[in-house]
Amino acid sequence: MLSQVLFDALAASRSVRAFVSKRGLRRESSFARRFVAGETVADAVAAARTIEAAGLTQTLHYLGPAVATMSEADRATRTCIRILHEIAAAGIGRNVSLKPTQHGVSVDRATCVDNLRRVLDAAGAQDFFVRIDMEDSRYTQVTLDIFETVWQQGYRNVGVVLQAYLARSVEDTRRMNALGARVRLVKGAYREPGRIAYRSNARRNRAFIAIMELLLTEGTDPAIATHDPGLIEATTTFAATRGIPADRYEFQMFYGVRPDLQTGLTSRGYRVRVYIPFGGEWFPYVMRCLGKRPADVGFVLRNLLLDR
Ligand code: FDA
Repeated sequence: MLSQVLFDALAASRSVRAFVSKRGLRRESSFARRFVAGETVADAVAAARTIEAAGLTQTLHYLGPAVATMSEADRATRTCIRILHEIAAAGIGRNVSLKPTQHGVSVDRATCVDNLRRVLDAAGAQDFFVRIDMEDSRYTQVTLDIFETVWQQGYRNVGVVLQAYLARSVEDTRRMNALGARVRLVKGAYREPGRIAYRSNARRNRAFIAIMELLLTEGTDPAIATHDPGLIEATTTFAATRGIPADRYEFQMFYGVRPDLQTGLTSRGYRVRVYIPFGGEWFPYVMRCLGKRPADVGFVLRNLLLDR
């Protein structure tokens, strides 16, 4: 899709990034604020309070700088632990999502396990749940291995993400269900080769439904993360025909994406958790969101030009 290509190029552009980053989150009305709570923990807490007041729950995701060395991974881990303390002190729901590359998986696997354990220890002491996001297919196996390592070590305040577009995910789902692990199901956000991933929407959606059914019947507190009304309907219909109550699973959606759908599901008695990103490295995230919304191109350009 043209808008996706355009916004991917913008996301990778350093000069646009420098230009936009200076002004994008300055105003409440800024385009970026639709999808990102702000740069600080206080911004994230304020967004979380609004979400919770509307009867939804949330998971906070810190958008931190890229990590290429062990000392950067250590710094990112210390930042994450500090954020946990700040969230706990704010008295909002205790649930965070993190990316393994932020904690050093691309640098050294053992260090990443150590860093994750440090986060899980701090999280466990304060009753947090930690979701390990799934990145591109270079990290699928290592992420699941790291998850299973900490699981075997007795950590239970942690869950994983499986991507419906990967052909391997049905088997991974069975394995995670057998462990009793909490899985978030997503379509998958990266460009993957056809030999390992389904390219067509129809095939990917069929896989999503097959995995959703496995999670609802055999899984532990699964999260169905999508804004696709057809897949949401397929989930509620399947649950109803199997007599699976609405408190046995939850829907998850991004902050700022289809808020109408989010509150609509809540008012029908379904649990909805909103994924709230915040932090200084918001620019690529927001560009990816905008790539999903071609109608917004004009709005963004106007916003940029007027926001001087
Ligand atoms: P689809 O792409 O068909 O979108 C349905 C509608 O929602 C469209 O109208 C679209 O415009 C809108 N929409 C969807 N995403 C949007 C966005 N970002 N910005 C603006 N509009 C958007 N992926 C992954 O690989 N690893 C992960 O760990 C996660 N984690 C994750 C957590 C949560 C809570 C969610 C909701 C999603 C993820 N994802 C993810 C992303 C997921 O793989 C997928 O790329 C997006 O959810 C988009 O797919 P949908 O199922 O929403 O359908």
